[in-house]
Amino acid sequence: MARHLITSALPYINGIKHLGNMVGSMLPADVYARYLRQRGHDVLYICATDEHGTPAELAAKEAGLPVDAFCAQQHDAQKAIYDGFELSFDYFGRSSSAENRDITQHFARRLKENGFIEERAIRQVYSLDDERFLPDRYIVGTCPHCGYDKARGDQCENCTRVLDPTDLIDARSAISGSSRLEVRETKHLFLLQSKLQPEVEGWLDTNGSKEWPTLASSIAHKWLTEGLQDRAITRDLEWGVPVPADVWPELAAEGKVFYVWFDAPIEYIGATKEWADVDPENRDWKSWWYEADDTVRYTEFMAKDNVPFHTVMFPATQLGTREPWKKVDYVKAFNWLNYYGGKFSTSQRRGVFTDAALDLLPADYWRYFLMANAPESDDTSFTWELFASSVNKDLADTLGNFVNRVLSFSRKRFGDTVPTGREAGEAEAKLGEQIAELLAEYEEHMDALQFRKAAQALRALWSAGNSYLEEKAPWLEIKTDQDGAALTLRTAMNLIHLYSVISEPFIPASARAMREAFSLEGDNAQWVTADHARALDAVPAGTPFTVPPVLFAKITEEDLESYRERFGGTEQAA
Ligand code: MF3
Ligand code: ZN
Repeated sequence: MARHLITSALPYINGIKHLGNMVGSMLPADVYARYLRQRGHDVLYICATDEHGTPAELAAKEAGLPVDAFCAQQHDAQKAIYDGFELSFDYFGRSSSAENRDITQHFARRLKENGFIEERAIRQVYSLDDERFLPDRYIVGTCPHCGYDKARGDQCENCTRVLDPTDLIDARSAISGSSRLEVRETKHLFLLQSKLQPEVEGWLDTNGSKEWPTLASSIAHKWLTEGLQDRAITRDLEWGVPVPADVWPELAAEGKVFYVWFDAPIEYIGATKEWADVDPENRDWKSWWYEADDTVRYTEFMAKDNVPFHTVMFPATQLGTREPWKKVDYVKAFNWLNYYGGKFSTSQRRGVFTDAALDLLPADYWRYFLMANAPESDDTSFTWELFASSVNKDLADTLGNFVNRVLSFSRKRFGDTVPTGREAGEAEAKLGEQIAELLAEYEEHMDALQFRKAAQALRALWSAGNSYLEEKAPWLEIKTDQDGAALTLRTAMNLIHLYSVISEPFIPASARAMREAFSLEGDNAQWVTADHARALDAVPAGTPFTVPPVLFAKITEEDLESYRERFGGTEQAA
């Protein structure tokens, strides 16, 4: 048994996330966490809302709310949706917590003591009309690298390059639109990443970044090859972790706060402390993060634009404290999920958002579709057609139909308990072998965090049941061989139970419905052993069962028509 620390990139507080955000961080982390728990590991799955910075301030302003009230409200709104998606966080925290403030300030103190933070006077963009400095997203303009005309001061959404507000061409204020801007001098704290570069390189090379997916390791190495720049880690904002006054009285008096990307990854630790503070007697946050022993394996999930921060900048911050903070062991990064070939866009509300998705259909439909089509090796596109075909073929026809057909037919012919029938024969032995083999394949892909392949293997397991059923055809068998038909149905019911266990990471609600069809003493979702997979005997004859309502409804042509109309389809492609 290992201890698995799992985090997903913290969703920004500035609005409800779309399906692209969901599949790029939280959902795969949840699938992995559920799988590991079922296999008996000690799992701590942590996430939180990322609440500081200009996105939060801008969104609060738009909503006409004070920023703290806005964040509290949006945190709850996001949390409710993630509950709806059955994301099994051990804790869903807030980066604006007192815990995060304390740990962030502690990090800054240590970095200063070790000579990795320095005060520098810099030239910042100041807006004459807004009467304030314009950090990060408060300023927009044209990206000097790719020419995208809505690039933000901190990062270009189009080419993902990290920017400095002064890099932008034709810059203007995001608050007022004013281009009456000037550059003024002001003092800020700088993290001396250039000094930390060799250590980060050493850490990357000795800590198995080679086994990371190429997407993550190539981005990390590209950043290091280009050379780490010292970066300003404070901002002139109202909302954020304040610079500690005991160390930097002048900056604190000016009301400077830390840059959101400084405190956000630290919130992985902060949220773990929030989790522990709920039950301090029984929860030990430090054992996961500080001087953690080798049994702790830390896996991070994120979309590709987040990779530099997680593979280079956050580790640099941790290393610079000279304290034994747990660093990431495995980075699972994702490409983009597009909407009909164009971008999902939060600001333009283009695509399907997580709240609307749940209004339309149960979470399992989305969970399965998104994971089976996760943008692992390439960007992928969401289309309603692809979604419908995946739901109809895999969930409704292959899995759902199997479950309902077997259970209703058996009830009709043999009553409310699993029928006895004959001993398993050759067909069952062959089926058991096949199931055991496919299960091993499925586990291998799950262990390797290859979710598309895992979903394929899961689908193959569901199909194997269908082939067996077609071959044995109990509806014909029963006419001449009652015991044979009973054996077939008993075996099929054991498959249903096996499916309920192994499908749980992807479709937890449906898996529960399948498992609860059987009244089995002490049944939990504990993983299937190879022996049970081969013998298909977890549900003995005589076990009472019920027939659950149809597990998955098919998406019809009319449904499709209305979805396309409501959400916009191809015609909007960017
Ligand atoms: N909020 C960021 C985003 O959505 C991700 C933050 S991840 C963390 O891109 F490292 F800061 F926690
Ligand atoms: Zn660009």
